[in-house]
Amino acid sequence: MKNMKKCFILLSSLWLCAASLLAGCSGKENAGEKNSIRIGVSLYRGDDTFINNIRGELEKCAKEYEKETGVKVNLDIQDAKGSQNTQNDQVERFISLGCDVMCINPVDRTAASVIIDKAMAADIPVVFFNRQPVEEDMDRWDQLYYVEAAAKESAVLQGSIVVDHYRENPESLDLNGDGVVSYVLLEGESSHQDALIRTEWSVQTLKDGGIPIEKLTGGIANWERSQASALMEQWLEKYPGQIELILCNNDDMALGAIDAMERAGITGISVVGIDGTTPGLEAVESGKMMGTVSSNKELYAGAVFGIASSRALGEEIPAGIELEEGKYFKCPQQIVVKNHK
Ligand code: GAL
Repeated sequence: MKNMKKCFILLSSLWLCAASLLAGCSGKENAGEKNSIRIGVSLYRGDDTFINNIRGELEKCAKEYEKETGVKVNLDIQDAKGSQNTQNDQVERFISLGCDVMCINPVDRTAASVIIDKAMAADIPVVFFNRQPVEEDMDRWDQLYYVEAAAKESAVLQGSIVVDHYRENPESLDLNGDGVVSYVLLEGESSHQDALIRTEWSVQTLKDGGIPIEKLTGGIANWERSQASALMEQWLEKYPGQIELILCNNDDMALGAIDAMERAGITGISVVGIDGTTPGLEAVESGKMMGTVSSNKELYAGAVFGIASSRALGEEIPAGIELEEGKYFKCPQQIVVKNHK
């Protein structure tokens, strides 16, 4: 199963590379008419670790694309710093600067209609990513796209990391040998589609995998390391010697939980995350985290950039970027545990 996933990821990467080469060729043809494109990108928060990883990959994509096609890419990346008003202003600025396309990571996914109104009026396609606008908004125009790592898949894979460990060695999770694995849950923003779905399916996968579980407590730490660390500190005091597993909706919160355990000098509790961020992968490698679910950032950013650049040039979207319903791209993900990347 793991090998099949790896193989698929490899194939998809090759496919995407080939597709971007093809896109590159047509870009050259087009270069006579248009030898530069302007892409406006707005991030919901520039200090979010996962979003920062995607940003880095987007910048790499732009450089590679310039090299391959000779089309100059003006990638204007802005940080909305958690404010929808700021993001709306950034969108207006992108429009007045004559952007060919916008890539938006919405602050408030339910408020995307304001951005869509502006984009439609200016006839500028939008590639949303990571924070999903509601379906009615996405259905308003055929120049709207959405790129994500599907939340249910992340959660089922996360749950299966725990199930695999439990089957191999139940004592590594049921630390006090009472026949039940007692867990706590660290959740992302309550308004984010990923948080609810990940929580539900991670827990469900443990149940389906036959692990006897008991929830001690849970809380919202808004994807943030420091908030997770503060919550975990309280829980370690409130449930001394009882917590056996920490399920986290993302890697940063998992790292926050680990910070709190390190401060308290506690070891042995299993922690799982989602994202496969750079520090998350390091924590798995060093044995601090049991495992994570990594979305392929290259492919993720490659899809955002591939859709955006082709729309900017009025070209077909590269064939390697397979869209569901003509607008949704789901990025492949894989389990990462120590020695099994
Ligand atoms: C999630 C990701 C989190 C955070 C959030 C921001 O998909 O797992 O780490 O980046 O998106 O919207």
